[in-house]
Amino acid sequence: MTLAPPRGMRDFYPEDFRPREALFRVWREVAADFGFEGIDAPVVETEELLARKAGEEIADQIYTFEDKSGRRLALRPEFTPSLARMIVARQGQLSFPLKWSCIVQCFRYERMSRGRKREHYQWNLDVVGEESVMAEVEAIGAAAESFRRLGLTPDEIQIRVGSRALIGELFALSGIGAEHFMACCLALDKRGKISDDDTRALLEKEGLGAADIDRVFDLLAVRTIDDAASRVAPVSPAIADLAALFSLARDFDFADYLAFDLSVVRGLGYYTGIVFEGFDTRGKLRAVFGGGRYDNLLTALGGKPCPAVGFGYGDVVIQELLADLGKLPGASPGIDFAVGYMTDECRPLAARAVARLRRSGRGAEIGLSSEKPKKFFARANRFGARRAIFIGPDELASGRLAVKDMQSGEQRSVALDEL
Ligand code: HAM
Repeated sequence: MTLAPPRGMRDFYPEDFRPREALFRVWREVAADFGFEGIDAPVVETEELLARKAGEEIADQIYTFEDKSGRRLALRPEFTPSLARMIVARQGQLSFPLKWSCIVQCFRYERMSRGRKREHYQWNLDVVGEESVMAEVEAIGAAAESFRRLGLTPDEIQIRVGSRALIGELFALSGIGAEHFMACCLALDKRGKISDDDTRALLEKEGLGAADIDRVFDLLAVRTIDDAASRVAPVSPAIADLAALFSLARDFDFADYLAFDLSVVRGLGYYTGIVFEGFDTRGKLRAVFGGGRYDNLLTALGGKPCPAVGFGYGDVVIQELLADLGKLPGASPGIDFAVGYMTDECRPLAARAVARLRRSGRGAEIGLSSEKPKKFFARANRFGARRAIFIGPDELASGRLAVKDMQSGEQRSVALDEL
């Protein structure tokens, strides 16, 4: 029997768990500081809820199974359908707009490549019930804040913003029927992953003529919002939203992280408006996170129309980027105190010291058995203890403790109740 986890799945030993926890802490703190409430849902959903549109890459990646009663179930490949289900189930009782956040494990049967596993954790942040671009501003602003707190500068990571609404306006001008919209977006998302000729073939299959395809490719090469504006109608809701987003991003002070890029289309069917993805500026890794506006998902589940914006931000690519840049948090362990004792007679004093420290909210690691000073200090180092207290016969006799600062080596003698 192999001792490795199933292909594409990860074990987290302490050295793997620490950076993950440090990352989750940043995500949780940013969500809380931006006024998002935590939620959760089961990792197993019905296959029916998770069933996908043809053309979506995710469609072939879902782990499905049957339970003992013959129910068709699946492991969630993403959280958004569960979120939509939860909202539709209580649409009458909830007060909108709502801002929800969660960190959830997702499963996708992917072809393995750098940054892609068959299981990953995803921070989801969604604003539901807000039509205005303030929803995008809050979601994208939170992602940018997480980058700032992780020590990633705008020179290292950029959030590229596109707009399916703008592509839709162009389609309408070109006389391309709305029924082709989603399939065309999914085809355009494959650009860069497949050849342009193959993308053309996909678009042709949707019924687009050569001239239309040229216009679409042209639009995706547009570099500025002004240039994009010149190609659509003078009054363009999509352009107005993009302009408002970039202007508000300056007021909220995260515009440095934003770049306009119409070639960002996203590979999921449900997006309807502004879409965005985070990329390392060296272009070495896959998208760090991605999201956008999805105004029709709730109606697809039988709910009342309700606008929504959100993103999914995985733990894999961001940790690769942080590691590449030497910025991975939680690399070494740390605790306030390590406490050890030379003999069993010294243990009650050590126990009292540790109890005091722990009660006052300090982290304190205690030896599980008596030990020699050398072994104790080696252990204190291994745990990353900032201070060490070792209790021998002298301390037992005097009742005073020697508190050693592990960095400076300085030692101070304190009474137990001064600790
Ligand atoms: P997504 O682009 O499919 O969007 O995934 C979002 C992020 O999850 C990716 O950018 C990446 O960080 C991470 N991710 C996805 N698949 C894998 C994988 N196989 N291995 C490692 N990381 C992965 C969604 O899932 C949407 N539901 C996001 C969303 C939320 N849109 C609105 N609200």
